[in-house]
Amino acid sequence: MAKKKINLDKLSWDEFYKIPLPDKLEFFEKDGKMFDCLFSQQYNRKRLENVFNLATKIRHTAKTKEGLDMLQTFLSHKRAMLYFVQPSTRTFVSFQSACYILGLKVSEIRSTSTSSELKGETPEDTIRTFSSYADIIIMRHFEEGMAEKSAWLLNKTKRPIPVINGGSGKDQHPTQALLDLYTLNYSFEKKGGIDGKTIMMVGDLKRGRTIRSLTYLLKNYKNVKIIYVAPDYLKIEQDVRTFLNKNKISFVESDNMQKNLKFADAVYMTRIQDEYDVNNESKNIDYSKFHLKKDLLKLMKKDAIIMHPLPRRAEIEVAVDEDPRAMYWRQERNGMWIRTALIATLFGIEDKILK
Ligand code: CP
Repeated sequence: MAKKKINLDKLSWDEFYKIPLPDKLEFFEKDGKMFDCLFSQQYNRKRLENVFNLATKIRHTAKTKEGLDMLQTFLSHKRAMLYFVQPSTRTFVSFQSACYILGLKVSEIRSTSTSSELKGETPEDTIRTFSSYADIIIMRHFEEGMAEKSAWLLNKTKRPIPVINGGSGKDQHPTQALLDLYTLNYSFEKKGGIDGKTIMMVGDLKRGRTIRSLTYLLKNYKNVKIIYVAPDYLKIEQDVRTFLNKNKISFVESDNMQKNLKFADAVYMTRIQDEYDVNNESKNIDYSKFHLKKDLLKLMKKDAIIMHPLPRRAEIEVAVDEDPRAMYWRQERNGMWIRTALIATLFGIEDKILK
């Protein structure tokens, strides 16, 4: 029996939020194109390949003054609002740089203690206010669902503008996943691409939003295997397991990093996310077993790569930076290119750049 189509326009926020993602993704699209970038699930393989090609083209074009000057004319009539009220270094700066590359003018708010939210204005009114001045909102928020709510709210107004999710609580960080995948794609370009590779994710897999978003994106590749390595308390959550089983993605879970290193084509390290502790529970976890020290590198494949969304603490020893397999500094720089490509896509200027 055909599924009854839900009239998404008529729903309250609480009703809308509860709808399963596949049934509401269309609300964040316009004319078959992505309007808001909120979830990894908005990407299929074609969309990924398009954004990767565009990022590479931008990376090459921006190498010369003439190229960069040209790119800077494309969106010089547009304004971006960077609303980052949860700490960030690279997501904020790479988005800011991406805006500069395309000529966008940027405004920023980095704390609710300096916005009128301190005077009692709701986040909803704050977001609506941004749409009076900006043509796109790029946001990071401590509250799960806030990026989705912002896009939902604006898409119902007379002045809808795109919203990009730069990290929403413990939930998702889709643009991090994009740059992670771009880095994997680049690294495996001469080795058959991402299809068939084994990706090992290590650390705080329960609260690391990059883990969830990257897992969702990996469904677009064939015969990928994921090894999740975490302390018992920080294992992936059931929603991720359900997703993996539903999409027939092969995965194993372990608490032994050393034993599994030899299988991985990519080792994706993460830090403990103790900012989400409720009762200082991280203090009782021996995270040192999930640290990649220089003497462990000999256990890895010679052509494997080491990734990390950064910032790091001690989970990758600084001495590892010298190993040619360390990819995390390039990975963070890739963030600027992929975010530039994403903004270009949302404004529909891909063809101008590719020409
Ligand atoms: N990877 C990442 O999101 O880094 P920042 O918190 O520094 O933005």
